[in-house]
Amino acid sequence: MALLPILIAPDPRLKVTAEAVERVDAEVRALMDNMLESMHAANGIGLAAPQVGVAKRVIVVDTAREDEAPRPLRMANPEIVWASEETECSEEGCLSLPDHFADVTRPARVRVRYIDHENEIRELEADGILSKCVQHEMDHLDGVLFVDHISSLKRNIILRKLVKSKRVEAAG
Ligand code: NI
Repeated sequence: MALLPILIAPDPRLKVTAEAVERVDAEVRALMDNMLESMHAANGIGLAAPQVGVAKRVIVVDTAREDEAPRPLRMANPEIVWASEETECSEEGCLSLPDHFADVTRPARVRVRYIDHENEIRELEADGILSKCVQHEMDHLDGVLFVDHISSLKRNIILRKLVKSKRVEAAG
């Protein structure tokens, strides 16, 4: 397995529409495993392939707390087949926008169809943090970041700060 560098916004590779995976073969499985390892190393609960520069519809999620056994989910071509009318607003962050957080409103519960790491079609019904996390990661597959759900004023403040910290890092 290998740790993959995670792209930091703003980056054009985070704005692409990712391509569907034809089948989950050994190559896609290795990508999923490397993504999970990279996500855990960064203390994240979700990661989408575009965040590691791979424009494929692949996400990984693990919302288990530190004191719980891991519950890794590997998903290719995830699709929302049902979403509740009820919404929930809660704070989100993203490994591609480190140290920035904002309240985002999303459907409270969703049912997602996807292909798992064994190339089997599965469905997952999620609520709470899992629902939020899966929706957040799926957004990445269409080039959407959590800051695209908030006001442009707040979004621009966050993106400007990220540009600034990238410059400081490049200079240092
Ligand atoms: Ni994210």
